[in-house]
Amino acid sequence: MTDTTSTDAFAYQSGFGNQFSSEAHPGALPLGRNSPQRAPHGLYAELLSGAAFTAPRHRNLRTWMYRVRPSAAHGRFEPLAVERWKTGPFHDAPTPANRLRWDPWPMPEAPTDFIDSVVTVAGNGDAHAQVGVAAGVYCANRSMTGRYFVNSDAEMLLVPQAGALLMHTEVGRLHVRPGEIVVVPRGMRVRVELPDGTARGYLCENYGAPFVLPELGPIGSNGLANARDFLAPVAAYEQPTGPVQLVNKFLGGFWSGELAGTPLDVVAWHGNLVAYKYELARFMAIGTVSFDHPDPSINTVLTSASDTPGVANCDFVIFPPRWLVAEDTFRPPWFHRNIMSEFMGLVQGVYDAKAEGFVPGGVSLHNAMLAHGPDAATFEKASSAPLQPHKLESTLAFMFESRHIFRPTAQALGAGNLQPRYDEVWAGFNAPFAG
Ligand SMILES: [Fe+2]
Repeated sequence: MTDTTSTDAFAYQSGFGNQFSSEAHPGALPLGRNSPQRAPHGLYAELLSGAAFTAPRHRNLRTWMYRVRPSAAHGRFEPLAVERWKTGPFHDAPTPANRLRWDPWPMPEAPTDFIDSVVTVAGNGDAHAQVGVAAGVYCANRSMTGRYFVNSDAEMLLVPQAGALLMHTEVGRLHVRPGEIVVVPRGMRVRVELPDGTARGYLCENYGAPFVLPELGPIGSNGLANARDFLAPVAAYEQPTGPVQLVNKFLGGFWSGELAGTPLDVVAWHGNLVAYKYELARFMAIGTVSFDHPDPSINTVLTSASDTPGVANCDFVIFPPRWLVAEDTFRPPWFHRNIMSEFMGLVQGVYDAKAEGFVPGGVSLHNAMLAHGPDAATFEKASSAPLQPHKLESTLAFMFESRHIFRPTAQALGAGNLQPRYDEVWAGFNAPFAG
C-alpha cells in the first residue's frame, strides 16, 4: 500500500514489519522466485539478512535486492580515522555515580558530514556480543558526497532535532524532519544528505535485537505507535557514478574501501528488512483519566528485547504533547530510582520535570539507581497548581532506556558543554515535616 499522507515528496509503503516489494524499473523484480538463473535486465540478485536464518518466523528479517553490481564488488578496506564515534565496550573512563547533563553540542565550523559529526556520549554492552546500545549526537554541515556509509555494528535510530535529513538507502529514499525518526538496519548502505544545509540530532546505535513495536497487553489491538504509520521507501536507485568511497564501521573500527560506483544501485527489492521512518505526532499517547502518573513505559514507541522477557536492551520512549487531567495527583514525573538507565534528549520545547537547563539538543543521563525527578521549582509549582485539564503543548522529549548502565565516554565527560552544577537542580527542597 502506498502512503499518500506523508508531506514530503517521496512515495512510501505503509506498515511495520510488512513483506514489502518495490521496483523502480518495470519488470526488475522477479516473480515466483528469488534467484532466477538470470535476474531481469542483467541485474544481480543479492540477499541482505538481518536475522539468523533460523530465527522464528515473526522475528526473521531479510530483503532480496536486484542491483546493478553485487555489493561484493569492492576493493580492500583500509583503516580510516573517525575521531568521535565510539563503540562498546566502553571503558575509556570511570563511570561516575552522578546524574549528568549536557548543553547542546556546538555546530562544527569545518566542513563536517554525518560520519565525521557523530559524537558518542555514552553507551553500554558490546558490539562484538551484539548486546547494548550507544547513544550520542550528530551535528553536521555538509552532505555526504562521494562517500557512503555502512554500520556493521548496529541498527541506527536517528532522532532529528534541527534540520531535515535526506536518507538515501539501498531500499530507497526517506525525507526525515525534526518530529520524525528514521531507523536504518544494520548493514544497510546509506548516504546522508542535508537538504537544509545543517542538521543536528540524536543517534542510538542498537547492537542488540532489532527494534520492534511493543506488545500492547490490556491496551488491546490499537494505540501507541500504530503499525500503519511506519513508512518504508519505494525502490530508487542513484544514477551511475564514478568510483566512490564506502566507509564501513566494523567492531568499532572505521574502514574505507573503493567501489566502482554508487552502492545505492538497487533497482528492485522485496522483503521485510527495510529502513523506515515514523512521525512521532502520530503516536497515540495514553495517560491516566483518574489519578497518578503512569509509568513511562506507556510511552514506548519501539523496543529492542534482551534475553529476559520484559527487560529491554533498549526502549525508545517519547514524551509528546498531551493532556494532563489527573485529579489529586502530582502530575509531573515523580521522584524515582530505577534499575533501568535513562539517556534523555529534547527535540523541542520544555520537558515537564525540569523548569530550565534541559534544552533542545542537550542530553541528560540518569543511570541505574541514581535518584532523580522534578527539580525544586517544578515540585513547588506542580504541588500547588490548580488541577484543571492542562495540555502540554509544543514539547517533545525522548528517552533511550536500557537495562544496561550507560558508561559516558571520556570525550563526553571532558566536554565543555557538560553542566558542572547539575546536582543543584535538586537543591532547595524544604523539609516541612514537623514530626
Ligand atoms: Fe527517570
